[in-house]
Amino acid sequence: MKVLLDEPQLQAGVARMACEISAHYGDQPLTIVGVLTGSVVLLADLIRQLEMPLRVGVLQASSYRGETSRGSMTINSDLLLDVKGRDVLLVDDIFDTGHTLAEVIPLLEQMGATSVKSAVLLRKQGRQEVKIDTQFVGFDIPNEFVVGYGLDYQDHYRNLRYLAALEPADLTDTHTGENA
Ligand code: IMP
Ligand code: MG
Repeated sequence: MKVLLDEPQLQAGVARMACEISAHYGDQPLTIVGVLTGSVVLLADLIRQLEMPLRVGVLQASSYRGETSRGSMTINSDLLLDVKGRDVLLVDDIFDTGHTLAEVIPLLEQMGATSVKSAVLLRKQGRQEVKIDTQFVGFDIPNEFVVGYGLDYQDHYRNLRYLAALEPADLTDTHTGENA
């Protein structure tokens, strides 16, 4: 594994995002919606740097089925709080192909959100497949598979305090130890 962003770099990026979000919304009440599971670490760090009146909800979107390629997407909004008439900021770990945000943003709009903007820790270069804008971005990263700070490979490594790129030797099955 190769470290791409260490802990101080990540903290500085999150602080920068919080400043931009605060400058944009001011004292306006905000509803933050985190996309499970990858956003949990960013969510915890980001909300503690925001001072406007804030509500936090989550929904789950899964497209990666334990591997590094895409499967079909499932969205579970059972745990989501009411977004009707609210300004919503969607928080996700990474903007990769963009399909997750492209599915979740219209869903929140259909649910009656007044506005929906998005914040992602990472944006992967050269991977975008859908034409959507994300307003707040922590870091642009090269096209590599990354783990840590919430991001996983086969549900592992979310707890790393840094962000690392996986190397071919790391792509073994985390359960059996065999090469994936
Ligand atoms: P999308 O392709 O923009 O829809 O991103 C879908 C999801 O894939 C993200 O929310 C992540 O959970 C996951 N993902 C994409 N790239 C990576 C990566 O490099 N490491 C770990 N997860 C990733
Ligand atoms: Mg995710």
